Amino acid sequence: TSLEMKSNQLVITSSLPREKWCANQFLYKFQNFWFPLTYLEATQQVVANFKPLPKDVILASFPKTGTTWLKALLHSIINRSPKQDHNNNPLISNHPHDLIPSLETNLYANTKKTEFLSVKNHKDVRILATHIPYQILGDVLNSSDCKVVYVTRNPKDTLISLWHFVQKSKSFGDDPWELEVAVDQFCNGIVLFGSYYDHVLGYRQECLKRPQKVFFVTYEEIKENPKYYVRKIGEFLGCPFEGENGDVEIEEIVKFCSFENLSNQEMNKSSELSNMFPLPYNSFFRKGEVGDHMNYLDDEMIQKIDGVTREKFHGTGFVY
Ligand code: A3P
Repeated sequence: TSLEMKSNQLVITSSLPREKWCANQFLYKFQNFWFPLTYLEATQQVVANFKPLPKDVILASFPKTGTTWLKALLHSIINRSPKQDHNNNPLISNHPHDLIPSLETNLYANTKKTEFLSVKNHKDVRILATHIPYQILGDVLNSSDCKVVYVTRNPKDTLISLWHFVQKSKSFGDDPWELEVAVDQFCNGIVLFGSYYDHVLGYRQECLKRPQKVFFVTYEEIKENPKYYVRKIGEFLGCPFEGENGDVEIEEIVKFCSFENLSNQEMNKSSELSNMFPLPYNSFFRKGEVGDHMNYLDDEMIQKIDGVTREKFHGTGFVY
């Protein structure tokens, strides 16, 4: 029963290592990753109950690495039609997070929105997002032929984006999260869904093993060459862009999903609380640039993060 489940979880939680994170919140270490209590419980629910369908497209990411952008891109790629008029794109009246729910933060969270599990896109495809690491969700993902798109981002920009985001979140209270502390915690992996490094490596290794199943891309790669990656994602998902019309479709999707366009939609500018998160809609659009960390991190902080990045990534052939 749910009561037993609940007390079981509490027992498990009370035996887990925990660390204070920003604003006096605790993060709990579960299978080597750090979670706030609510996401930990929801993650366990996802692992126990979520059954991916073969046609599912799962967008996986560490927080602040481009999830919102990829939600918009995937939705537009999958639901496009030959003579699409983007003035009717559902992303005009809906925030990307309201169109594409997240497994642990919406569907299996306390305030369940399971009705979204039956929301189908073109050709019966469900698009669902998650921040759960591959090391924890891998068996579930491998239980069906679903496809996974993983996006990641330069660790320093990811941290700065997270740092800004956390200050906007009411649930974190008014305590400032000192940047120096944030850098240390990020480097030690003690951030929500952290360690960032292990998160990235989990999905990357699966992509190397099974490139038909996991598509791995970086925020910077898409910024640099959006048309190329929209085409690639279309191919990967089995809905390739073809001919001259395909070129036009790609161009329009890239333009429509650009930071400039999306961040200027009324819905996305709104300071109203989102249906899906206890956060204003506009908190998912800040600056949308590569390299913004340079405006915040000093040399010492940069060296510190770069050192950890070299240590964690470079032996694996992945370079940032
Ligand atoms: P910044 O804080 O650096 O501006 P996530 O969606 O994973 O939470 O990541 C949020 C980051 O992606 C924020 O970065 C946000 O501004 C940026 N972003 C949101 N929409 C974007 C878009 N359409 N194109 C590029 N970046 C976008």
